[in-house]
Amino acid sequence: MARRGAGTPFLRQLSLLLLLHLGGTLGCASVAVSPRVVPLGSAVTASCTIQRELCHGLEQGKVRISWMLDNKLVAGSQHQGPGGTEVSNLTLPRFNLTQARLFCCVEWNGTKQRVGVAEIRAGYPPAKPLNLSCVLNLSDYGLTCRWEQGTNSHLPTSVVLKCTGSGAQAVTGCTPRGGHSHCTVPRQLLQLYRQMEIWVSATNALGTAESERLCIDPMDVAKLDPPTLQSIQSIPFQTDCIALAWDVAWGTEHMELQCELRYRAPEDSAWALVTGIIGQAGSAQRCGFLFGTQYCFQMRCRRSSATALASWSEWSPVRNYTTHEKAPAGKLDAWWGARPAGPGGRLEVQLRWKAPRQREANGRVLGYRVTLSPRRRGRDPPTLCNTTRTQCNFSVPAATGRVYLSAYNAAGEAAPTEVTLLERKGQPLAGLRAVPGGERSLWVHWEAPPAPVSAYVLEWQRVTAEPGHCSACWQMERDGTATRALIQDGIEPFQRYNISLYPLYEGTVGVPVHTTAYSQQKAPSHAPKLHLKRISKSEAELCWEPLPVEVQNGFITSYTIFWASSITSMASATVTPSLSSFAIRGLKPSTLYKVHIMASTAAGSTNGTSLTLVTTALDDTEIQFLFLSLGLVFVGLMVLLICFQKNERMKEQLWPSVPDPANSSLGKWVPAAAPQEPLQVPAAREPGPAAISTVTVLEGDAGKEPGKEPGKEPPGTPRPYVRQEGPGEPVQYARVGPAGYRGQRLLPEPAPRSYENLRGRGDGGGGDWGFLEEPPATFPLLQGLRIGGNEELHECRAD
Ligand SMILES: *[C@@H]1O[C@H](CO)[C@@H](O)[C@H](O)[C@H]1NC(C)=O
Ligand SMILES: *[C@@H]1O[C@H](CO)[C@@H](O)[C@H](O)[C@H]1NC(C)=O
Ligand SMILES: *[C@@H]1O[C@H](CO)[C@@H](O)[C@H](O)[C@H]1NC(C)=O
Ligand SMILES: *[C@@H]1O[C@H](CO)[C@@H](O)[C@H](O)[C@H]1NC(C)=O
Ligand SMILES: *[C@@H]1O[C@H](CO)[C@@H](O)[C@H](O)[C@H]1NC(C)=O
Ligand SMILES: *[C@@H]1O[C@H](CO)[C@@H](O)[C@H](O)[C@H]1NC(C)=O
Ligand SMILES: *[C@@H]1O[C@H](CO)[C@@H](O)[C@H](O)[C@H]1NC(C)=O
Ligand SMILES: *[C@@H]1O[C@H](CO)[C@@H](O)[C@H](O)[C@H]1NC(C)=O
Ligand SMILES: *[C@@H]1O[C@H](CO)[C@@H](O)[C@H](O)[C@H]1NC(C)=O
Ligand SMILES: *[C@@H]1O[C@H](CO)[C@@H](O)[C@H](O)[C@H]1NC(C)=O
Repeated sequence: MARRGAGTPFLRQLSLLLLLHLGGTLGCASVAVSPRVVPLGSAVTASCTIQRELCHGLEQGKVRISWMLDNKLVAGSQHQGPGGTEVSNLTLPRFNLTQARLFCCVEWNGTKQRVGVAEIRAGYPPAKPLNLSCVLNLSDYGLTCRWEQGTNSHLPTSVVLKCTGSGAQAVTGCTPRGGHSHCTVPRQLLQLYRQMEIWVSATNALGTAESERLCIDPMDVAKLDPPTLQSIQSIPFQTDCIALAWDVAWGTEHMELQCELRYRAPEDSAWALVTGIIGQAGSAQRCGFLFGTQYCFQMRCRRSSATALASWSEWSPVRNYTTHEKAPAGKLDAWWGARPAGPGGRLEVQLRWKAPRQREANGRVLGYRVTLSPRRRGRDPPTLCNTTRTQCNFSVPAATGRVYLSAYNAAGEAAPTEVTLLERKGQPLAGLRAVPGGERSLWVHWEAPPAPVSAYVLEWQRVTAEPGHCSACWQMERDGTATRALIQDGIEPFQRYNISLYPLYEGTVGVPVHTTAYSQQKAPSHAPKLHLKRISKSEAELCWEPLPVEVQNGFITSYTIFWASSITSMASATVTPSLSSFAIRGLKPSTLYKVHIMASTAAGSTNGTSLTLVTTALDDTEIQFLFLSLGLVFVGLMVLLICFQKNERMKEQLWPSVPDPANSSLGKWVPAAAPQEPLQVPAAREPGPAAISTVTVLEGDAGKEPGKEPGKEPPGTPRPYVRQEGPGEPVQYARVGPAGYRGQRLLPEPAPRSYENLRGRGDGGGGDWGFLEEPPATFPLLQGLRIGGNEELHECRAD
């Protein structure tokens, strides 16, 4: 009880007593509840009487009585009772709990103490027991009855099964144990071969309910042992009929039995049921079985004199029987491909067909034979193929119009299917389209052509980069009026299928039409890798390889290019999937941008790794202008020089003898390897101070380009100034390191080898840069404009 710690030893004692005597008189308090058990939702009244003199410590002063329903405070009305008692009355108008305890409490020494308690229960009268059924066990003659108890009454309910003989003898029965709703009446309480009345009675505090009464002779509901199937035979031979013989269970020979037979082939999901078999007959005949098929049979019986309540025996153990075979029947679905081959005008034919259905195979097909002419009595035509597979390749004279295909089993060979090798030049179909039919199927729809069609052939192939061929991926639609068909074989989600449809006309085959479809799409496995094709002050042209079909996972609906710099927010542009390059315009000069591409299908999108690029400081025309002006200055200088050289006097005066730098110690000091260094192709970007500082910082953690060994690069080969970021991918970064300046010469002397190199690389680099192949490439200022080479400028396939 609550507040146990706060109470006196007396109250602690009281609390213990409360647990033992719920609802009784407790020392000085008594609680009366009426009624103790109520229908759910009806009213309950309670009265608590305190006998002051019996309550230790409550002799004087005012006593305040309060009520608690479980833990909830409820208000009662208090008044003086006879004999110096304090009485509190309480009404709970709608008691909706199934079980609760009502406490009577007093204020005692400043705390609320529980001095009396009563338990209240609420529920419903018992529900009527339903569906009473009984079965007599013939080994111990116990009658087991079962029923459904119906809704829970929330109250303790006693259930008994009662039975009485027709002569109004004493009521006997059984009591179910452990809340079950079945029990067994023993043999000695039963009257066999006489009617008994059986019912279930359920009783609780609110009432009693009884089931419908069952009036049965316990023998009528006896559960018999199943019969035994003895033999199964094909009778008469070579028909689709079989005869069965059985023995009824021991001890039931004298009874009139009604039996049922069921059978199915292993591939059938449902049983075929034969009802109304007379058990004593011991044999029966049945027709309509498939040839060469294994069936399993089962039988069960019950007493036929009894009412419909008689229970069935278990099914007998399974007996298997395989019906005899017959030569296959029916036409085979066949399809062919043909192409001229070899000399002498022969035709290479690839013939494919479908195995016959069980109904037409009439047994186990052992193989197929293809011949040039139909089999005639006594004459066996030459065989083109004799195979167990469902396809075969052979070559025939070009004039051959027909071949004959037949299946054979142990019982014989089928009448041949004539395959006419028609040319495919008939009218094609219109409006072919395919839609998902589920995760692993496709519905193909088409428009019926004006000419009558005898059948359609559908072919499908998974579209892959590697050419593959599925020779079983075809089906024939024999209904010439059909305008749709379901493909279910070998269709997988996220794969593209190329579906071809051929109409078969009388005397010709239509030109096929094709469509592609997915049974299910999802986001691409990855996005294409972005490459930088060209970059200038305000524009960057990007390109990408189209995604291989295997990773598309659906039809690409668009590509979206996202770009952002540290100061501008993310911008994006969406392009159609047919494009594979895009030029971002309006970029800020000499600014670092991060770019990525997103590939989308109808079912989702995938982002690619991001590419970092830096726009140039000057425009192409600006550089051109710079070069031009510098060229002019250079030419002017040369002219001046030549003038001086021509005029010895002036030269003597204005050009005192100057040591030849080439012969000087400085000339020897220049590293011999320098001319061999491959020169960077100039990139039109001047590394502004800001750009250089950014670049230098990040060079520290520069890695290697994937797939490229750093050792293989000649020293001084400029590194790319773009970077591809991705999970686990090493970082590459712009580099205008020492390499960018190593090519500089102190002197404006022509350096033919470097010049050659430059031209060679320039040719590989991209025509846009042709103007840089001018000699001034070694000019110090122009050298300064270069940044780390053009390897990162990617050659993209032409759109
Ligand atoms: C209180 O309840 C008792 C017993 O139910 C009853 O006899 C008595 O009249 C009630 N008193 C009042 C004031 O309702
Ligand atoms: C019982 O009734 C009270 C108020 O009348 C209500 O708040 C409560 O939800 C009801 N409880 C149930 C189990 O219906
Ligand atoms: C009454 O309560 C006070 C404190 O709450 C306690 O000191 C005192 O002993 C209590 N009296 C009795 C008779 O238990
Ligand atoms: C009683 O049996 C009938 C028919 O067998 C069935 O439809 C019904 O659901 C059963 N009732 C209960 C409570 O199971
Ligand atoms: C019939 O009674 C025997 C013996 O008590 C028992 O082994 C058998 O399981 C019972 N059969 C059924 C169907 O309850
Ligand atoms: C009958 O055939 C089924 C299916 O082939 C098999 O699982 C079962 O074991 C066979 N039963 C007998 C008794 O041969
Ligand atoms: C076809 O092949 C099977 C087994 O390979 C053989 O038994 C049969 O005789 C052959 N039939 C013909 C017509 O050649
Ligand atoms: C028949 O030829 C096709 C290609 O022409 C080939 O894919 C197939 O495997 C061949 N079939 C047989 C049985 O050789
Ligand atoms: C589909 O297959 C046909 C024939 O196999 C071929 O001609 C056609 O180009 C294919 N179409 C596509 C989109 O792959
Ligand atoms: C791809 O990136 C863009 C920009 O960061 C973002 O808005 C978009 O949700 C991303 N798409 C996916 C599929 O993560």
